[in-house]
Amino acid sequence: MQQNLLDWLICPHCRYVETNDGGNGPEYGLSLESGAENCAITGRILTGTLACKHCYTQYPIRHGVPRLLVKQPSQQSEDSQKIQQQISDNFGEAWTQYAEQKAVNPYTKEQFLDWISPLEAHDFTQKTVLEMGSGLGGFTEYAASFGAKMVVGLEISAAVDASASALLEKNPCLSFVQADLLHPPFRTAQWDLVYSIGVLHHLEIPKNGFHQVAALARKEGGQVFIWVYGRENNELVVYIVDPLRKWMSKLPVAFVRWAVAFPLACILWPLLLLFYGPISSKYLPYFDYFRWLRRYGFGYTHGMITDQLIPPRTHYLRQDTLKDWFDSEGVIIDAITPRNKISWRVLGHKP
Ligand SMILES: C[S@@+](CC[C@H](N)C(=O)[O-])C[C@H]1O[C@@H](n2cnc3c(N)ncnc32)[C@H](O)[C@@H]1O
Ligand SMILES: [Zn+2]
Repeated sequence: MQQNLLDWLICPHCRYVETNDGGNGPEYGLSLESGAENCAITGRILTGTLACKHCYTQYPIRHGVPRLLVKQPSQQSEDSQKIQQQISDNFGEAWTQYAEQKAVNPYTKEQFLDWISPLEAHDFTQKTVLEMGSGLGGFTEYAASFGAKMVVGLEISAAVDASASALLEKNPCLSFVQADLLHPPFRTAQWDLVYSIGVLHHLEIPKNGFHQVAALARKEGGQVFIWVYGRENNELVVYIVDPLRKWMSKLPVAFVRWAVAFPLACILWPLLLLFYGPISSKYLPYFDYFRWLRRYGFGYTHGMITDQLIPPRTHYLRQDTLKDWFDSEGVIIDAITPRNKISWRVLGHKP
């Protein structure tokens, strides 16, 4: 981690316990214990221990990433904690397998810009940026390449280990933390831009995740961006894929990838080639989405099907629900746009 990230971190446990004032005071800061090991070239802290100045909980730093997971997360039921653990395990495993087989960044810059529209590259210049649920860090890397002052990817799963070392070496302004976005290890209202792509809809109560995303953006202009699955136009997925995924997510990820997603991709891919090409009817199901998917080839389609099948829990959110979230957090909506007609991008700012 970068030395200066230390000023931004607080103990997630104390922040959670002291929810009334956001656990925001300086006493919840973390100090670096002696014996830490720094990189001789970049000065980054590679290994060491952080300790809370208030409750003295210790958090390790491994492979340059501070591990700031709270031991007893919230009052979730046991079942719900199990599902959250499964989400983290399945995504961690899927991303790790992906990184072993392919390049570390699964996306192109063009895809990132499409995902975050109407944000553009210049919106990152000299900003402090936090991504909540950064997965393999592909988007985080692009955010860093747009001239941000500092970019941090927060990710709960072992996916951080699959990519962090390689990405940190290449990008001086980038850091990762392993943490739960429901218990973020940051003071509230500090960041210029907080965004979360494809994560909130996997939480038990997505609105609680949005509450944290919004809380971390600074007042007076701090920006908030989210991308989530939409409920509108999504019947096929809701009624066919969703029940399937509840079973699939219980199976080993490698099995789902090769024994289920691969044959499905072999069926879907020729259909995409045949029916979703330049001359196709816009009345076909998932027209925009499949036209988009087709552009990125068979391997990407296979990856997307795998991604659809491994999380045990997914919500599909209506535009009105998202408007309510922004309203209730006092975030003014600047743009709410559909992406491929089956998901929502929402950008807002704090007054
Ligand atoms: C579909 S992936 C999206 C990752 C990345 N934003 C992207 O689009 O490539 C969802 C990610 O959210 C992470 N995640 C799920 N629940 C989380 C939580 N409570 N806190 C932080 N990350 C979480 C998962 O481990 C997974 O890597
Ligand atoms: Zn503490």
